[in-house]
Amino acid sequence: MTTPAPAKPLLFTSIAIRDISFKNRVVIAPMATYSAVDGIAQDFHFAHWGRLILGGAGCVFIEATAVSAQGRITNGDLGLWSDAHIPGLKRVADFMKTQNVVPGIQLGHAGRKGSMQRPWFGNGALTAEDLARGEKKWDTVAPTATPLGKGHIVPHQLTIPELAALKEEWVSAGKRAIEAGFDVLEIHNAHGYLMHQFLSPISNTRDDGYGADLKGRMRFPLEVAEALRQIWPQDKPVFLRVSAVDGVEGGWTMDDTVAYARELKTRGIDVIDCSSGGLFGSATAARIKRSWGFQVPYAERVRHEVGIKTMAVGLIIDSLFAEDILQQEKADLIAIAREALVNPCWPQMAEIALGRKPVDAMDDWPVQYGWWLKHRERTIEQIRAEEAAAPQR
Ligand SMILES: Cc1cc2nc3c(=O)[nH]c(=O)nc-3n(C[C@H](O)[C@H](O)[C@H](O)COP(=O)(O)O)c2cc1C
Repeated sequence: MTTPAPAKPLLFTSIAIRDISFKNRVVIAPMATYSAVDGIAQDFHFAHWGRLILGGAGCVFIEATAVSAQGRITNGDLGLWSDAHIPGLKRVADFMKTQNVVPGIQLGHAGRKGSMQRPWFGNGALTAEDLARGEKKWDTVAPTATPLGKGHIVPHQLTIPELAALKEEWVSAGKRAIEAGFDVLEIHNAHGYLMHQFLSPISNTRDDGYGADLKGRMRFPLEVAEALRQIWPQDKPVFLRVSAVDGVEGGWTMDDTVAYARELKTRGIDVIDCSSGGLFGSATAARIKRSWGFQVPYAERVRHEVGIKTMAVGLIIDSLFAEDILQQEKADLIAIAREALVNPCWPQMAEIALGRKPVDAMDDWPVQYGWWLKHRERTIEQIRAEEAAAPQR
């Protein structure tokens, strides 16, 4: 009697969204490195992305990329506000395709969270010391003229004509992302940046048609999502990342996220990427209690109540746990961020941990690694067999 082969894990089963096929369901989440010069990708970016691209994920996202210079968080943000930004990004998108990795890009605008220190210099407002280091300050914009906190720049309150112009900046950056060769667009609506500032009742206290109530607060982010969906190729997916809850009294709630996701679905958004927090501090500052996969319930609720695909992210580091999220239909994709910085080969090792024989799995690794490692694997197996057969002393 033969033992049936173990079922293929869902995590390593391909999935198609629109006409884009992902070889597996592991996605590397966007991770800003704050290392660009005038918005342009540098050597560090290629080394960083290279590690992630060769690690086996089905899709790798390029970090939050600013749609305008004003929309940067720090002086080191990547940008797509001019054609000069395209070649650096095209190089990496093209390389991803040679490795059967779907190239994704996240577009963002910092709003009142702009003109800030790079995280490792303090994550606060720029200081005299930062300026002496060569950093530059700039004016910021937001739904209202309320600063992020004490010491931060007071943003300019966006007027209605300025909102129309800003939408065009998103669209222009989206067109450049297409030219650069990206297959998936993610619109950054999370972590306290401009779109989240419009959504949350804490940061959007406008009383015009772009505030006042939930419908008004959703209006600008929905206009931008709709405009981007219109220009993004119809055969390619658009993801949108939300902070599903603010985790702050009187803030954006899960009910709001469900209502918002319904609107996004009708506008053709394909996947809701469910993160949380960040309205005041960094998204990794724990206002919401941390536990393994603490944001998975947000992805689950949106998926079930709205009937839209979701991506789960946040403290997912165990492959069995990741598989279980998919098996229990809580999400369609699993995004990994910091764990991939620790171990860029997380997807490759997860597939082995979920039961695939190393020598078979390595057939799908970049041949420059896989060919050698398969041979090493056979040698390891042989040594182990010899050890097992040797008489015990
Ligand atoms: C270095 C770093 C940079 C990040 N940059 C971004 C970003 O550009 N856009 C974004 O939406 N989230 C960003 N995040 C958040 C991650 O995408 C992810 O949601 C978060 O780290 C939780 O997932 P994890 O527990 O797997 O790290 C960043 C996180 C890290 C650690």
